[in-house]
Amino acid sequence: MTRRKIIIDTDPGQDDAVAILLALASPEELDVLGITCVAGNVPLALTAKNARMICELAGHTDVPVFAGCDRPLGRDLVTAEHVHGKTGLDGPDLPEPKMSLQDQHAVDFIIETLRQQTTGTVTLCPLGPLTNIATAFERAPDIVDKVQEIVLMGGAYFEVGNITPTAEFNIYVDPQAADIVFKSGAPIVVMPLDVTHKALVTTPRNEAFRALSTPVGIAVAQMTDFFERFDKQKYGSAGAPLHDPCVTAYLLRPELFSGRQINVEIETQSELTLGMTVADWWGVTDRPKNALFIGEIDADGFFALLTERMARL
Ligand code: BDR
Ligand code: CA
Repeated sequence: MTRRKIIIDTDPGQDDAVAILLALASPEELDVLGITCVAGNVPLALTAKNARMICELAGHTDVPVFAGCDRPLGRDLVTAEHVHGKTGLDGPDLPEPKMSLQDQHAVDFIIETLRQQTTGTVTLCPLGPLTNIATAFERAPDIVDKVQEIVLMGGAYFEVGNITPTAEFNIYVDPQAADIVFKSGAPIVVMPLDVTHKALVTTPRNEAFRALSTPVGIAVAQMTDFFERFDKQKYGSAGAPLHDPCVTAYLLRPELFSGRQINVEIETQSELTLGMTVADWWGVTDRPKNALFIGEIDADGFFALLTERMARL
């Protein structure tokens, strides 16, 4: 496998944290060029802090972390402390980060980095609202060609909404940005709720993290302990869905996932269905296919991969 250059765009978030840890634990396959933070689960100052805490937990203080957009393109920020807690990373007691944030704005970093690379060689991994990515594409349309693939967590079709009856959180927070990204022409792989709700941290799976008995294994178990209380209560499910790590796992083991190449458009106008991912799963329109929409996961394989990689940190 050739080493894939990636930029992780994120709003940590316990599940973002696990996605970042999985990437940092996989240097043979993934070259993390940078981590760009965006406002989402919690405000920007906290996501930028949390990302650095996670790099330090992983022992990877060499990865540059950038702060990006502090609000969506055309509306007020909606946050999700009700899911992730006040800090966004409630659960483990992690130390304040020592590593500093880069001076450069995340959007400038994305533009500059992509411009330095050859066509089709950088994979963008958005784990939060798409504000940074859309802003970069709007300011520098020439960088879209440099993208190998955008593998993102967002949207839903059969599962519909988790923040409104029809919208998934990441897309709902900044539908305008999502619209720009889905119309960009870059190859897109979508990890919607349809698949992430099948990646549940059941008690035995979480105990496997804890049994690693390392700072990383224990912190991951504590994060999911906290995170799962919300979903267990809401859905009556067996554990928390590990949404964002599906993105990193796809880069490492695409064979764990399956889906359909379809047209996906974003609702940006309707008050009732704002942020809905209108996914033409059944091919009932002639609209161009712009995304691989994932629907299935080998959950046991996914958790085996996660546990094995967490053990490396
Ligand atoms: C998405 O929203 C956030 O709460 C999670 O981090 C994930 O990226 C799930 O809807
Ligand atoms: Ca996220």
